[in-house]
Amino acid sequence: TPVKLSDYRVPDHVVTQVHLDVVLHPTATRIRATSEVAPHRQGRAGAPLVFDGDGLMLASIAIDGVALATDAYAATPDRLTIHQPPRGPFRLTVETVIDPQANTQLMGLYRSSGTWCTQCEAEGFRRITYFPDRPDVLAVYTTRIEAEKKAAPVLLGNGNLVEAGDLPDGRHYAVWHDPHPKPSYLFALVGGDLAVVTDSFTTRSGREVALGIYVEHGKEDRCAYAMDALKRSMRWDEEAFGCEYDLDVFNIVAVSDFNMGAMENKGLNIFNDKYVLALPDTATDQDYAAIEAIIAHEYFHNWTGNRITCRDWFQLCLKEGLTVFRDQEFSSDMRSRAVKRIADVRLLKSHQFAEDAGPLAHPVRPEIYHEINNFYTATVYEKGAEVIRALKVLIGETAFRAGMDLYLARHDGDAATVEDFIACFAEAGGRDLSQFFLWYRQSGTPEVSVATRHDAVAGTFTVTLSQRHRPTPGQTDKQPMVIPLAFGLVGEDGRDRPLLDEDGRQVAAVITLDEPQKTVTFSGHPTRPVLSINRGFSAPVALKTDLTAADLAFLAGHDGDAYNRWQAIQSLATEHLVGASRGNTRPGGADAIAAALAHVIDGAAADPAFAAQALTLPSEADIAREMGAEVDPAAVFAARKTLKLHLSASLGDRLAALRERFATPGPYSPDAASAGRRALVNVALDLWAASGDDARLAVVEARFAGADNMTDRFAALAVLAQHPGARREAALAAFRERYRTDALILDKWLALQAAIPEDGTLARVEALLADPAFAMGNPNRLRALVGGFATGNATQFNRPDGAGYAFLARVVTDTDPRNPQVAARLLQAFRSWRALEGGRRSLARAALERVAGVAGLSPDVRDIVDRMLSEP
Ligand code: ARG
Ligand code: ZN
Repeated sequence: TPVKLSDYRVPDHVVTQVHLDVVLHPTATRIRATSEVAPHRQGRAGAPLVFDGDGLMLASIAIDGVALATDAYAATPDRLTIHQPPRGPFRLTVETVIDPQANTQLMGLYRSSGTWCTQCEAEGFRRITYFPDRPDVLAVYTTRIEAEKKAAPVLLGNGNLVEAGDLPDGRHYAVWHDPHPKPSYLFALVGGDLAVVTDSFTTRSGREVALGIYVEHGKEDRCAYAMDALKRSMRWDEEAFGCEYDLDVFNIVAVSDFNMGAMENKGLNIFNDKYVLALPDTATDQDYAAIEAIIAHEYFHNWTGNRITCRDWFQLCLKEGLTVFRDQEFSSDMRSRAVKRIADVRLLKSHQFAEDAGPLAHPVRPEIYHEINNFYTATVYEKGAEVIRALKVLIGETAFRAGMDLYLARHDGDAATVEDFIACFAEAGGRDLSQFFLWYRQSGTPEVSVATRHDAVAGTFTVTLSQRHRPTPGQTDKQPMVIPLAFGLVGEDGRDRPLLDEDGRQVAAVITLDEPQKTVTFSGHPTRPVLSINRGFSAPVALKTDLTAADLAFLAGHDGDAYNRWQAIQSLATEHLVGASRGNTRPGGADAIAAALAHVIDGAAADPAFAAQALTLPSEADIAREMGAEVDPAAVFAARKTLKLHLSASLGDRLAALRERFATPGPYSPDAASAGRRALVNVALDLWAASGDDARLAVVEARFAGADNMTDRFAALAVLAQHPGARREAALAAFRERYRTDALILDKWLALQAAIPEDGTLARVEALLADPAFAMGNPNRLRALVGGFATGNATQFNRPDGAGYAFLARVVTDTDPRNPQVAARLLQAFRSWRALEGGRRSLARAALERVAGVAGLSPDVRDIVDRMLSEP
């Protein structure tokens, strides 16, 4: 049965305090939960007490210390009901026994490489004890953890450590107390034999915070970057948002079996070790950047998520969209803002636009769900962040900051809604934001068309904008939205011209499109300016402009907005590649792209990281998305390959020269400037070697062998992987040998092979399923090999014989009984199946129907496959 936003009502019972007594055991962990329960003032008087459970077994139950008669309650695995609870406050004690070892779903309390750990968001706490497992029940938690000292010398909980000691028989315990009321999804505990790296941070008001990062023994030397990122995050949040840390301890634990990236449990963040561990020899520049961003993200949740949490799971974007926005701002301040913006928009378009265009489209704030775990999506996270960014453009920097301050002050301690959040900005900006709220309610990517007209005699330049909203699942008619489009009018000299209205008055550099259509006329243009619109990607829309190829080439070289310089090159290349994929190329198209890229290369010294982004061609997925329908992935691949060959030949010397010009001197450092130089050299290497010329591949092979850091080593390997032959196989074998004991690094090796665009790849992937480097039960391994194949290899996943689809369907149904969340995630690789050409479309449908026909699917996979197959 679906859950609906409109059905929200306050709980009948709340819990204000919980004492958890946890006795860790591999297969029989005992949890005694003592809760102070009270009827909710606005709840239904005299209602039965109903607590959530999931796979639980009740061992004992008592109210105010008195065991309950068996007819006074009912306990099933997924529910505890007390028929006639006391009418006033009471103390409920519930004991459950669970098996962490058998918990392969990795939700609730489970074991990862011998370590006990938890994941409770969204609904994992109910797998530990019966509880009102919903985010609007805020309680103060005290957790006593007991374990055999040898198995778990480290015992961690939320909040501050208040007591610890030894017990008879080689056992010990620790008591943690978290003074901040929180919902159950933020509960966490860890027990295990872990190494720790410590540091400290002094907050601006002088609080000393003990920082700890817990990792497997032997990995201590891989934590320095994460620790540094944590301290920078703590400082930045004070400076940028006035948010100060509020406990004496902040711990991070890295585990190797984790369903997602990381989790913001109060004072005890738990991370996928992929986003903690890094050394120059084990992590790429991209890995370093991801660690920085995710450490920051989880830390920033302490305010946006924990101090202010969500009333219900429909409000997920309240914490996730906002926290992504905050982590993007942090990374922008730490690195290059323009380059970060480009990387974020690339990710948004490749994931979120694709989601929005297919059967899984949903609003940033959904109104109905079957399985909440399936709503941790690019739409909720990334589009959720874009909407906040657009709000900032709309109301301006000052009002935005005032709105944030108001939100943080007014709602501290609340379980809030998106309405509460937006109301703060409406108040701070003194304007009605009800139309803006449509960004949260309407799914699909708005399409904005732009037409321009120049009148040389009158000296006017007229811009006509219109918006269009295609139907998406469950939404047919939509209303016009408010779309803030930052823009400039670029003169022949490459400089922005003054923005004057028809009466010659200066106007702002943002056009707010809030009607179906709007026309704006500018004066003072005896010659035609070139319109640069949606600068900085100010609104998350799909743009159709009337810019000519010559205009795009001009903007690529001259636009004062770096994002739009990049966008111009992308548009130029995308237009060409979409045409070529459909069998029509414009003569001179490839040369125009080569000329634009030559210009980028010649000016690369100004910002090498930007040049690297500009030299990166649109991906196959980008091209497919732009095509929209009847996509033949083989044709897309061929078109892209042809362009690469052209560029490899025509830019060869220029590309080769970049290696020397931008070599990074000295030992490896992960800083943004050095990373930018490496990115440029490596993207140039890929284009240069695209010719397949053996002499060039020999140079790549030498770079692989001689690299002194993972970034360059892996980049060279990735180039070699594109070219069949002995060099490739030897390099893959050498990489495997070098990192044979390091599963996390072998994930790169798995993913790279899964992405080889050749007919033999599916067989290679099948063979790798049996490789010791692979383990079906580990989410990182599955994502690397199977996810890498399904989302990173368009031609082979979309094989014309359907074998790629059949393979994914099989892995999904095999994985589902063990780990439904990961299975459901893998299945989303089909999200664009309806945009395929007919043959592949029917094969994809058949594979999805086979999944749908499997008996006993988890709610997670059932939800995805049903939506995937529902008629548009
Ligand atoms: N709150 C976590 C984060 O974004 C992610 C939790 C994901 N949970 C899930 N069930 N998929 O920081
Ligand atoms: Zn988050």
